[in-house]
Amino acid sequence: MRDETVILEKAISATDEPVGPGGARRLRLSAHVPIPKYLSQTYWWAYLHPLGVRVFERQWLVNLILWGNFGRLRDSVLRELDATKPSQVLQVACVYGNLTDRILSRLGCAGHLHVVDVAPVQLKNLTEKLSNTERVTLHHQDSTQLEFPDASFDQVVVFFLLHEQPESARTRTVAEAARVVKPGGKLIFVDYHRPRRLNPFRYIMQPILRTLEPFAMDLWQKEIEDLMPTAVVPRQVQKRTTFGGLYQKVVMTF
Ligand SMILES: C[S@@+](CC[C@H](N)C(=O)[O-])C[C@H]1O[C@@H](n2cnc3c(N)ncnc32)[C@H](O)[C@@H]1O
Repeated sequence: MRDETVILEKAISATDEPVGPGGARRLRLSAHVPIPKYLSQTYWWAYLHPLGVRVFERQWLVNLILWGNFGRLRDSVLRELDATKPSQVLQVACVYGNLTDRILSRLGCAGHLHVVDVAPVQLKNLTEKLSNTERVTLHHQDSTQLEFPDASFDQVVVFFLLHEQPESARTRTVAEAARVVKPGGKLIFVDYHRPRRLNPFRYIMQPILRTLEPFAMDLWQKEIEDLMPTAVVPRQVQKRTTFGGLYQKVVMTF
């Protein structure tokens, strides 16, 4: 399907073996990965429109949206990543700010990072902001239908993606993320959570989320662990909430 594939001008090169069928050494944009409806209808202004990308690709702004918690939440992911041995790491979806760069620094020479996103404009933006393109491969894929074989990755990171997805996409993303983790590997989610009763953000966030992020409050009602297919049982699940319960980190070990 060569003619249906566009190769970005500023291609990313990888130094190690590709992982699975999508693990190309250069980023290819496939015509077979459509933009999901929830992105084009609900989040076009934040993630798809080039002006949106220009506006939101500012770490101070992302930090403001997270009430000053971006650095803390990012670092809590970095702390979970084992950089003591060679590892293949998957980041499911691009993130504004420097999370990807910081994951790369954390992994050092031992690791290789793969980043998946469904939106070409986001992948292109990532190629432009990364300071190191040596140990990273970008993949144009949908999180609900990853093209990697089972058990491809030692560690998988899903940072603030689930709250943007309607329930059917969210459960498929969780199942796919678990499918591609190796036995002994780790799956790390960071996302919204229901704040405690006395936390003022419980009341401040409701109108904001209901207006701008219509699926986000599902995560106030349902545990991420309960989105996992019943046949998939992690060996260990650790959940930690921060900022009075507004944010959660769930780490599953398989
Ligand atoms: C990780 S989420 C939000 C992260 C965070 N709020 C931030 O500041 O960037 C946003 C990214 O998810 C991507 N995305 C949404 N649905 C996706 C899907 N089904 N598959 C892969 N990427 C997806 C969007 O294109 C966007 O780049």
